[in-house]
Amino acid sequence: MYVCLCKGITDSQLKEAVRSGASSFKEVSKQYDVATQCGKCALMARDIVREEINAQSDSSPLYYEAV
Ligand code: FES
Repeated sequence: MYVCLCKGITDSQLKEAVRSGASSFKEVSKQYDVATQCGKCALMARDIVREEINAQSDSSPLYYEAV
């Protein structure tokens, strides 16, 4: 789904940016220029990035198993 119509950015692109290592909305915005024109997409884009960051942190444990 398109999140930013001004720049043609989709939710999949935002999620992929997080999976590729972006750790904040600022980093994703820098990478894709999302929310840099009219700004109407900023709230939704932030929510999507935050959800993906949370999903990533939930999937990686905070500990390492002893071998
Ligand atoms: S819709 Fe994203 S900057 Fe306008």
